[in-house]
Amino acid sequence: MLIKHRRASDIHENHLTPESVYLNRRALLKGAGLAIGGAALTACDPAGAVDLLSDPNADLYPAARNEVYQIDRPLTAEALSTTYNNFYEFGSHKRIAKAAQKLTIRPWEIAIDGEVEAPFKVGFDDLMRKVRLEERYYRHRCVEAWSMDVPWTGFPLRQLVELAKPLSSAKYLRMETFQRPSEASGQKQIWYPWPYVEGLTIKEATHDLAFMVTGIYGKPLPKQNGAPLRLAVPWKYGFKSIKSIVRFTFTEKEPVSFWQKVEGREYGFWANVNPGVDHRRWSQATEQVLGTQERVPTRLFNGYAEEIGGLYDDVKGTRNIFF
Ligand code: MTE
Repeated sequence: MLIKHRRASDIHENHLTPESVYLNRRALLKGAGLAIGGAALTACDPAGAVDLLSDPNADLYPAARNEVYQIDRPLTAEALSTTYNNFYEFGSHKRIAKAAQKLTIRPWEIAIDGEVEAPFKVGFDDLMRKVRLEERYYRHRCVEAWSMDVPWTGFPLRQLVELAKPLSSAKYLRMETFQRPSEASGQKQIWYPWPYVEGLTIKEATHDLAFMVTGIYGKPLPKQNGAPLRLAVPWKYGFKSIKSIVRFTFTEKEPVSFWQKVEGREYGFWANVNPGVDHRRWSQATEQVLGTQERVPTRLFNGYAEEIGGLYDDVKGTRNIFF
């Protein structure tokens, strides 16, 4: 059962996809004699429950909760946030949980390179023993105008930046998702610029709120939510929170993200949440809270304005940080 309640005025479920890509895809599928299925979004697929016994990091869960990060709404049901996902590598609809189980997450090697003292690779399980896990409750606001409230487990991204030892020339952090079309059928869709890439300034990456996620609801992360390692930057639209990361590159130049390449007029580098700045095709003033009938006002920086403080003081005059 699809638990998300929608009104006729709500935006279409895969609205993230720009019209140009949608049309291009349609044309290609038509040429191949295929139809775009009228997505049967009725089954709540329980796929992807994590088998704690076989997880090499089971002993690290549940991690102690960091009470600094509270939310003023009930948490979204686990059965919903683990079955209603955006993960284009497995399809441009929300029911990708089952398809995502094809992803091999062991071994999982992460490359750290670019403007660092010495590039290196680290296995995910080794990395887990170098950081300290904690649980944080975060709001998550998708650019498609829906939101959820999630208990993530992970560690501050700052800890990873410190391990990487960036040079003073490093101004940005570029992050990259795996590229394995044999496991991720969405990556066979050639109209998308794979792999998925996202970026932050070093100032953003070392901010307290920037969080590397390894778990959810007190357990290791299911594949559909971006196992084994994803980002959570809750003051930005959800597409910045890149999943299943394999590479962190420190750069002098601003990275160009996946969605910027797809449609630069709709998805910018900063993507900070602002109810007063509409998407090119819909309003960002309100959001539908997943699992409820509620449509609530969206808040500046998704409610994290106080924590963000002066983070953008140096760029405010020169860049539109809400795009
Ligand atoms: N990361 C990758 N690699 N691929 C994606 O398609 N989608 C983004 C983000 N990270 C995406 C991604 C978007 S649009 C959102 S809203 C969140 O993941 C969704 O995270 P969730 O499925 O855990 O809710």
